[in-house]
Amino acid sequence: MKALEGVRILDMTHVQSGPTCTQLLAWFGADVIKVERPGTGDPTRAQLRDLPDVDSLYFTMLNHNKRSITLNTKRDKGKDIFTSLIQRCDVIVENFAPGALDRMGFSWERMQQINPKIIYASVKGFGPGPYEDLKVYENVAQCAGGAASTTGFDDGPPVVAGAQIGDSGTGLHLALGIVTALFQREKTGRGQRVECAMQDGVLNLCRVKLRDQQRLAHGPLKEYPQYPNGTFHDATPRAGNASGGGQPGWIVKCKGWEEDPNAYLYVIVQAAAFEGLARSIRREDWLEDPEWNTPAARLPKLDQVFDEIEKWTLTKTKFEAMETLRAVDVPCGPVLSMKELAEDPALRATGTVVEVDHPTRGRYLSVGNPIKLSDSPSEVTRSPLLGEHTDEILRDVLGMDAEAVAAAKTEGAV
Ligand code: COA
Repeated sequence: MKALEGVRILDMTHVQSGPTCTQLLAWFGADVIKVERPGTGDPTRAQLRDLPDVDSLYFTMLNHNKRSITLNTKRDKGKDIFTSLIQRCDVIVENFAPGALDRMGFSWERMQQINPKIIYASVKGFGPGPYEDLKVYENVAQCAGGAASTTGFDDGPPVVAGAQIGDSGTGLHLALGIVTALFQREKTGRGQRVECAMQDGVLNLCRVKLRDQQRLAHGPLKEYPQYPNGTFHDATPRAGNASGGGQPGWIVKCKGWEEDPNAYLYVIVQAAAFEGLARSIRREDWLEDPEWNTPAARLPKLDQVFDEIEKWTLTKTKFEAMETLRAVDVPCGPVLSMKELAEDPALRATGTVVEVDHPTRGRYLSVGNPIKLSDSPSEVTRSPLLGEHTDEILRDVLGMDAEAVAAAKTEGAV
């Protein structure tokens, strides 16, 4: 049995934030019914296509384990079918532009009338306030949530991360909200509204940067590369590759960096492992020298510490350097390219990287469920073709007979 077996999700999501949420719930065993506009479906089916007329990897990698029904929720018959689906589902999830479901006639009040047990979950760009009506994509959220202003180097512009913390990050937050609401419903019998704003989700992930904003009032942030020779202004600065915690860290070049853009290693100069680090890089002299042998002495000259580490790592590949440093408990890790991650046998073995078969695309690689439950293992099955399960859902979930299904088709509702 899967953890969420028996839970039925009406999935009105599109693009990335909403689909990541419902994909997680599907991996935990929920029956996720993806409602898509007839003819086109989720716009990502056709975006960033690598093969003509085949669902894009953008779509397939965000919509595993779901069923697809096409439904025009702006037509009368489509609204009737949608109403019946709300009656038979536990959760409805959507991430349309603000107000889209209300404009279709499905406000929160209306949904509660249709099904008082329904949990209605939404992603929006912003919560209530001056920006609430804005349409938002990933990088807008990263900028508005504090990630961009705190990412990059001091002498450069704000930078957005490759990790989709605005979209997939908010999808994760929403999934937790839904599961929590389902848990509460067990006791109250009532559904509730679950809302996650992408700005809020990003800010939650940037929590430590708001911590630093307040620390600034009490002196410079000593773990930032601006200390002691740079300038601090009135807002949390960009920290480059500094590790941000009490343990200084940086990315250093390794052998081959001139040709390989990812020949780098992240090294943390943890006080407890300093002796092993100093000996590994042949700077045993630091151990007796009060100029170097305490964290406080090293702090104002961390750039020199990392320069010395780099002189050594430049003579090793990132993996060789990691092997030496791990043997003496130095926290470190290679910068891995997407190619290396795709080929990593350990990630294949745990199901975090999986190969999936698709009828029109063939085999492709995807990221499986990163959350491992011992009693509810996740199997990754392919994303549905547009409307692949329309008839099946109308028949099995709504109990419509062949005549009613044919009529819905004639009316252009499905
Ligand atoms: N049948 C009929 N109409 C449908 C439909 C269906 N099955 N599915 C969607 N539509 C309609 C919507 O009702 C909406 O119509 P309206 O504008 O008349 O109200 C329309 O299609 C388009 O929806 P919208 O959400 O406005 O799409 P968009 O492409 O213009 O905007 C986003 C895309 C992502 C910017 C926007 O949806 C958004 O800001 N979402 C919230 C934040 C978010 O999740 N962003 C991250 C995306 S990864």
